[in-house]
Amino acid sequence: MSEHTLKKAGLIGCGAIGTRIAKAIDSGELKAALAGVCDIDPERARALSQSLNGKPPIMSAAQIVDAADIVVEAAHVSAVPEAVDLCIEKGKDLMVMSVGGLTPEHFERFENSAVNLYMPSGAVCGLDGVLASNLEHIDTVTLTTRKPPAGLKDAPFIVQNNIDLDSLTAEKTVFEGSPAQAIKGFPKNINVATTLYNAANVDGKFRVRIVADPAVHSNIHEINLSGALGSIRITVENVPSPDNPRTSALAYYSAIATLRKILSHVKIGT
Ligand SMILES: NC(=O)c1ccc[n+]([C@@H]2O[C@H](COP(=O)([O-])OP(=O)(O)OC[C@H]3O[C@@H](n4cnc5c(N)ncnc54)[C@H](O)[C@@H]3O)[C@@H](O)[C@H]2O)c1
Repeated sequence: MSEHTLKKAGLIGCGAIGTRIAKAIDSGELKAALAGVCDIDPERARALSQSLNGKPPIMSAAQIVDAADIVVEAAHVSAVPEAVDLCIEKGKDLMVMSVGGLTPEHFERFENSAVNLYMPSGAVCGLDGVLASNLEHIDTVTLTTRKPPAGLKDAPFIVQNNIDLDSLTAEKTVFEGSPAQAIKGFPKNINVATTLYNAANVDGKFRVRIVADPAVHSNIHEINLSGALGSIRITVENVPSPDNPRTSALAYYSAIATLRKILSHVKIGT
């Protein structure tokens, strides 16, 4: 597979995902240059920069967008609106991991611009089939996400509803609702619901269930779709990131694979 030399990438968010992406660039695994790194916590940005051979400069989000050809957001849903505004204004491509921060208005603005918005599959599989099914009729989509209780701790929905996760001895359904309600209640845990929802593009026919299960040690996503083209049943059982139990390791490999696809002249998959 031939890859052409990038483009400079700029990173917003130096946590579990951002660090892996930065290391993939720094090690030469991705034929890209790291224009700079940014984090709301300057110590995290400094630590990441120091750990890399290229010692990329620490910048503000606005400076990152100026310096990069493609901006990689791996921070928090709250970082997304500014990244969208800056990328549209400066004409830069944007790859978003905190997809729950994206809105239909953001999509429209990218559609009417000359730059690209990339949303990696992240922690789920099967988006190829969902995207193809969306060209015909989709009846229903359900996403059941099962996580160890520690992976759901401190989520706004858990805190607001005083749900005790520490004393769970058996699985408990802690949430059932729409993708929009899910991302509001679990902004750091259920970005996959937003990605799937946008791929399926079915209002009112998409339900999300979140289960806290002390018996599991992985993040498990079960997708069930039925529609005119048949049915899709997918179970993804993900190893949590050693750096952040809320995040699946597959999410950062998916981000790296997306960047590789952008750089490659041969594109595999839908
Ligand atoms: N799309 C997916 O499938 C998927 C999967 C897992 C995680 N995620 C999302 O990706 C994002 C990154 O995940 P992670 O595991 O690396 O998280 P993390 O908590 O390990 O790291 C996030 C980093 O971003 C920084 N940050 C927070 N708000 C910021 C802001 N406004 N501006 C700049 N920096 C900011 C934090 O200080 C931290 O260093 C999260 O929003 C997470 O929910 C998406």
